[in-house]
Amino acid sequence: MTEHKTYPHLYAGREVTGQNTFLSRNSSDLNDVLGAFPEATRDQVREAAQAARDAFPAWSKTPAPIRGQVIGLIGQAIEQQKEALSQLITREMGKTLKEARGDVQEAIDTCYFFQSEGRRLYGQTVPSEMPNKDLMTYRRPLGVVGIVTAGNFPVAVPSWKIIPALVTGNTIVWKPSEDTPATSYALAKIIQGAGLPAGVFNLVFGGGKDAAGQYLIELMNDGLVDKMAFTGSTEVGRYVGEVAGRNLQHPTLELGGKNPLVVMRDADLDNAVQGAVFSAFGTGGQRCTSAGNLIIDAPIYDEFKSRFLEAVKKIKIGDPNKTEDVLYGPLINERFFDRWLEHYDWGKADGATLLHGEGRITADSQPEGWTGDPDAAFYGWPTVWEGVKPGMRQFQEEIFGPTINLVKVDGIDEAIETANAVDYGLSSSIYTNNREWAHAFRENIQAGMTSINNTTNGAEAHMPFGGIKGSGNGTRESGIWVLEAYTYWHGVNDDISGKLQLAQMDTAYVEPADPVDVSELF
Ligand code: UN1
Repeated sequence: MTEHKTYPHLYAGREVTGQNTFLSRNSSDLNDVLGAFPEATRDQVREAAQAARDAFPAWSKTPAPIRGQVIGLIGQAIEQQKEALSQLITREMGKTLKEARGDVQEAIDTCYFFQSEGRRLYGQTVPSEMPNKDLMTYRRPLGVVGIVTAGNFPVAVPSWKIIPALVTGNTIVWKPSEDTPATSYALAKIIQGAGLPAGVFNLVFGGGKDAAGQYLIELMNDGLVDKMAFTGSTEVGRYVGEVAGRNLQHPTLELGGKNPLVVMRDADLDNAVQGAVFSAFGTGGQRCTSAGNLIIDAPIYDEFKSRFLEAVKKIKIGDPNKTEDVLYGPLINERFFDRWLEHYDWGKADGATLLHGEGRITADSQPEGWTGDPDAAFYGWPTVWEGVKPGMRQFQEEIFGPTINLVKVDGIDEAIETANAVDYGLSSSIYTNNREWAHAFRENIQAGMTSINNTTNGAEAHMPFGGIKGSGNGTRESGIWVLEAYTYWHGVNDDISGKLQLAQMDTAYVEPADPVDVSELF
């Protein structure tokens, strides 16, 4: 067991320690401890929120272009630390370095996008129906934003919330995932160090249920949190939505997905196989945009299946800290692994056929592309099922981890109907070169994001990210759309006429002086 340090919460401009702590471990080497982190008490979460409230008046009155400058400095600081931060993500979360660099780059892109939003944050000037009266609209910040995030994208996804919330003048309490506290601590140090006044951005550690996450959510009831932004399970998202609804708040909810990837009979199969392999097994299947069901058109089913299985057999798996030449590393930790493993029982119970995969990679059970010490962490076989149909549990439910279902359909109509037969609607993809099929998919798929001839992943940092149905509540992250999530519109009228003039009542409505009857003209 390595020596480890205990890290503090970072709130109110202070380092705050706690009595109970939890450990963060290297996902690929469970003997390597990154550090101990405190479990925030209810009082500590409240103190952090109070600090954010106290900092709100000054930060919200700081001119937006100046707030934008700070966002730019945060972007530069993340850029300077990109390699170190990426290596930390790989060590703590277990994704490959290439993907970890992408995770960090997405945060940098987000900062540079919102840096100049500080010089826009446009409102409108609107003509009045009265003379000598000006109408205008302003975006106003909401107040204290509570942020709770998952561990699979420990830098990109928090930045989607933190950066736009800050540039629009809100202050923050962030409770990151208990699976990636070290990366979160490093990111928080970078953000706080870039020139934010004390109390504007606060970090508390801890678990979700009956712990820091829940305490933060419940502060909506006490008027200490004005807005919640959450990425995680649909179940917890519903709870956030319930508490927010009672408090007449509109939370940002980015929830689960069971994303369909359709391959039509005319598709470029090489491209489709590559895309399907990454969508299913990239990040070890631990993206909310990972593919859940591969929906294959009947005439090419057998050929796709054999090419796909061939590619799956070649997938390289191992410790991503030791080699960049792997598609995926371990599951984030034992909790993720256990939840993933459970779906083997679902598949058997529902009568699906297991084509590839043996659960945990062990000394006695190793796929072709495996290298390393399987006992050092929780590694899963790339798992492929067939004979999966709508209604089966593994068709319907999100499974975080390396597994995919092959689902046979006949034609575009059945493909779309099957793709829509889940309670989620986050991402979606179709491989086809038929314009009409691509168009039909784009028009009829129930999803917040759709790819044509591309994976289910890879949303760019300036496109709207989010889902429908069980994947969210319609809020969007990223790009200009996220501004709606952290501001309200304030409509202002300024009457300089010096007299009482009432809208709709004193308005000079125009009557046609002499209505024309065209039939009488000729
Ligand atoms: C997530 O898994 O929560 O589109 C986010 C993608 C990434 C973000 C995934 N840019 O897959």
